[in-house]
Amino acid sequence: MALGQFSPADLAIDMGTNRTRIYVRGKGIVINEASAVAMDSGKNGRIVAIGDSAEEVAGRSDNRIRILHPVQQGKITDLETAQLMIQYFVNKAIGTVRLKPRAIAVKPIGCTRMEESILKRTVETIGCRAMVITDSIIASGIGAGLSVYEPQGSFIVDIGAGKTEIALTSMGGIVISHSVPVGGNQIDREIVEHIRREYEMSIVEHTAEQIKFDLTDISRPDTSDRYIVVRGRDIATGMPTTAEIRIEGIRAAVCTVLDQILEAVKWVLTRVPPEMCVDVLKNGIMVCGGSSLLPKLADKITDAFGVPSLIAREAGECAVLGAGYMADHFEVYSSSVENKKL
Ligand SMILES: Nc1ncnc2c1ncn2[C@@H]1O[C@H](COP(=O)(O)OP(=O)(O)OP(=O)(O)O)[C@@H](O)[C@H]1O
Ligand SMILES: [Mg+2]
Repeated sequence: MALGQFSPADLAIDMGTNRTRIYVRGKGIVINEASAVAMDSGKNGRIVAIGDSAEEVAGRSDNRIRILHPVQQGKITDLETAQLMIQYFVNKAIGTVRLKPRAIAVKPIGCTRMEESILKRTVETIGCRAMVITDSIIASGIGAGLSVYEPQGSFIVDIGAGKTEIALTSMGGIVISHSVPVGGNQIDREIVEHIRREYEMSIVEHTAEQIKFDLTDISRPDTSDRYIVVRGRDIATGMPTTAEIRIEGIRAAVCTVLDQILEAVKWVLTRVPPEMCVDVLKNGIMVCGGSSLLPKLADKITDAFGVPSLIAREAGECAVLGAGYMADHFEVYSSSVENKKL
């Protein structure tokens, strides 16, 4: 029998709009999969696949298979599906252990009591003996390497798939924060809309995401007049078709969403208490979340505000890495933040 079965597993859980990540103390990130469940509506709601394999089924199955996304804008909107999903992931992460795990789970900015209670009920289903719910943005700050517990202002922006969170933190707390329900998914939708409007071609969001990955610099107009070949469906004829799409049009579509995000960043920047302005100018703006990987995003932010900005290492994983750091020091964190003994 493996020794691991007798040692308690301390977990950090980040259930994001697109990705669920689980960190296991002593092991690191062991789950990083799509927050998705594929269900066969024809067979009494039988689960067909969970996680990345559920996402692979999307768009490639008959109409009976529904792909459920139980997390929207960082909040659990379908409790039952979220419970099934997290049970599956935790089981995959730690197997059947004798000692019940302890878990740290992250919540988004603006999470109401009701939403937090849904998050707790979701995590409870893994049978944990202790649970801590903590702010995702603080965890992201830790994961990005910021000194969030020092008496100085740290400015952090997490641009995910369904939302963007922005906060000024100091001494482990949030001084001022803001969140907008806009992230990578909205960028993909904007690309879909642009191609529908300008090229009368219909593409799926997954294709839009791939096009987004092909961008090379979103900070300034593309003067090289480059085009990319995109496959989709001709709206007029319904036929499969191919079109050459101008990169600059795509970049401009992406920027309409980035402008909304920059507006939200500005909202927080303009409310930084004067004594912390020096910290922000000195330390800059730390940006993380999967969508911060848009090429040259840091340049765009720096140009917009004249404040240096930096993309975090392992930008997509900062929240779970920060929560993972807390899980590594579970005793300290469970006594310092509101927690629930089960
Ligand atoms: N190289 C990249 N360039 C641009 N966007 C990227 C890149 N890699 C990932 N993304 C985008 O990042 C988003 C996923 O980010 P992340 O994993 O931080 O989201 P999430 O945690 O699931 O969502 P949220 O925090 O909003 O609930 C997706 O929209 C994806 O398309
Ligand atoms: Mg996230």
